[in-house]
Amino acid sequence: MKPKLQVALDNISLSGALKSIRDIGNHIDVIEVGTILHVAEGLEPVRCLRALYPDKIILADIKGADAGSLLAKQCYEAGATWMTVICCAEIPTMAGMLKVAKEFGKGRDVQIELYGDWTWQQAQSWKEIGLTQVVYHRSRDAQAAGKSWGSEDLGKIGKLCDMGFDVTVTGGLTIDDIKLFKDYPIYCFIAGRSIRDAKNPRDAAIAFKEEINKYWG
Ligand code: 5RP
Ligand code: MG
Repeated sequence: MKPKLQVALDNISLSGALKSIRDIGNHIDVIEVGTILHVAEGLEPVRCLRALYPDKIILADIKGADAGSLLAKQCYEAGATWMTVICCAEIPTMAGMLKVAKEFGKGRDVQIELYGDWTWQQAQSWKEIGLTQVVYHRSRDAQAAGKSWGSEDLGKIGKLCDMGFDVTVTGGLTIDDIKLFKDYPIYCFIAGRSIRDAKNPRDAAIAFKEEINKYWG
């Protein structure tokens, strides 16, 4: 399957996010309310984006760590399709979110955000409770400190794919990075700054799509 394209709205205001999405919403597959935007505006951006894009996948990137079912209920009631949980959260937290996702139905799901240290034993436990999506993430701070994509990342991505996870990749992605992942069945690429901050965000979104089509056509 061809990887989806997700745009991360890590704006610091709702008005800024709506301005960012205006010209690109119809060219991408998934709209993300970024963690930064959630901190600034709560779940209101999810409500507004759901009103504007009734049929799109909307991700609430809250990176939840505890109180899984309570957080999930709020995200899904606001209109999110997917939500995120941080990889260090405990299994009952993740299971609580997933249970609520299944109760809401209609494609609701939970993505595990992989940051820092996590183990293959944890990955096995995520599988065992029925989680299917992981986000392989190079953090903004690691990127700012000079970390680039390397063979260690690709090895882990390949192993997660082999385990049967739907693997999303993100973290300061540029169009030139896409080809690095061409040998893997990537589920979704998330780009934030490379699209939002482009001179012409619509052209940037289209260029990302074209680049994806080149390798997964
Ligand atoms: C950071 C995030 C971002 O949403 C994600 O990294 C995509 O944004 P960018 O392409 O600007 O890095 O979750 O924690
Ligand atoms: Mg994000």
